[in-house]
Amino acid sequence: MDWTAGYASDVEYTTGFYAEQAPGYLNLVCALNGYEPPTLSGPFTYFELGFGRGLTANVLAAANPHGTFYAADFNPSHVAGARALAASAQLSNLTLLENSFEELAQGKADGLPQFDYITLHGIYTWVTAENRQHIVDFIGRYLKPGGAVYVSYNALPGWAGASPLQRLLVEYGDAFPNRSNVEMDGASRFVERLVEAKAGYVEAYPSIKPRLESLKSGDRNYLVHEYMHKHWQPLYHADVARDLARAKMEYAGSAMLPMAYPGLYLTPERQAVVATFPDSAMQETLKDYVLNNSFRKDVFVRGLRKMSPNRHTEVLSQIGVALAVPRSACTVEMKTAIGTLRGNAELYGAI
Ligand SMILES: C[S@@+](CC[C@H](N)C(=O)[O-])C[C@H]1O[C@@H](n2cnc3c(N)ncnc32)[C@H](O)[C@@H]1O
Repeated sequence: MDWTAGYASDVEYTTGFYAEQAPGYLNLVCALNGYEPPTLSGPFTYFELGFGRGLTANVLAAANPHGTFYAADFNPSHVAGARALAASAQLSNLTLLENSFEELAQGKADGLPQFDYITLHGIYTWVTAENRQHIVDFIGRYLKPGGAVYVSYNALPGWAGASPLQRLLVEYGDAFPNRSNVEMDGASRFVERLVEAKAGYVEAYPSIKPRLESLKSGDRNYLVHEYMHKHWQPLYHADVARDLARAKMEYAGSAMLPMAYPGLYLTPERQAVVATFPDSAMQETLKDYVLNNSFRKDVFVRGLRKMSPNRHTEVLSQIGVALAVPRSACTVEMKTAIGTLRGNAELYGAI
């Protein structure tokens, strides 16, 4: 029986840690955007959908001993590897389940509690529409009121030019079936021939050049999972927001933190264009048109509550920050979409 639903599962995904999925990080997104975050001061519950190699789930469980973590993936080799990692780290607050999104949405994983956080990274673009529906149903069924969801996805219109490239890679794999990484090798070499033949598509979309380069040299397993799924679908933010609205979710902000400050990346003229639409889902989508975004990291909350100015100050003042690099490696230069900004060295030094 095929359990993959068109998802290339014959090679393992690469191992990565994604800080944006951390509960504290998600609270920071809510706080920066002026929304009440879930409470983190006491015990909390957390679920990761599609954990891949499981490094993020393992690190988050180790770093948050007062949290109870669950994560699920339908690929048994991913589950076995992630469980071995959890056992070697002697984690008692992480349960790794072998379940599909469909099974989870139908309540087939016994004994799950309600969750404060549900996260999924690198999933939503790469699965079928039915599976996106199962994910929304799972959130509707298991997220607590006030709980937060993190979802990343390939976005339109930034992917518009490169979509035909993805289609071609999948078609090549179908025409010359093999293990996905071997299909990827053959498909990449074929695309090089298309470039050498000066195909009109390649000439018309110079913006796809970095993708063509990464096909030559990128990690094969990563490329398989990025490109070789039959149901791959880049999405407009408005459609994702409307999907999630069915689970009573509202958009809180982007896990790309500077996005909380439109003045950093939108000129006044662009801000006025974005403000033309009354609806926040379309305003966000318009930002993607203005910036030609191809990837989004969205945070949604079930029951979004705007904080009063006093409460906002109080919540921000409770957030601690720590350097994640040696102090000597720190600069006060910030690269933003509207240019490089220089922070006040005295102020940032003190922080
Ligand atoms: C691109 S990987 C991302 C993994 C991880 N979130 C990360 O970013 O490292 C997608 C993962 O979702 C899992 N997956 C895909 N479809 C699924 C489904 N229908 N049910 C459960 N897991 C699924 C795959 O096995 C894979 O581990």
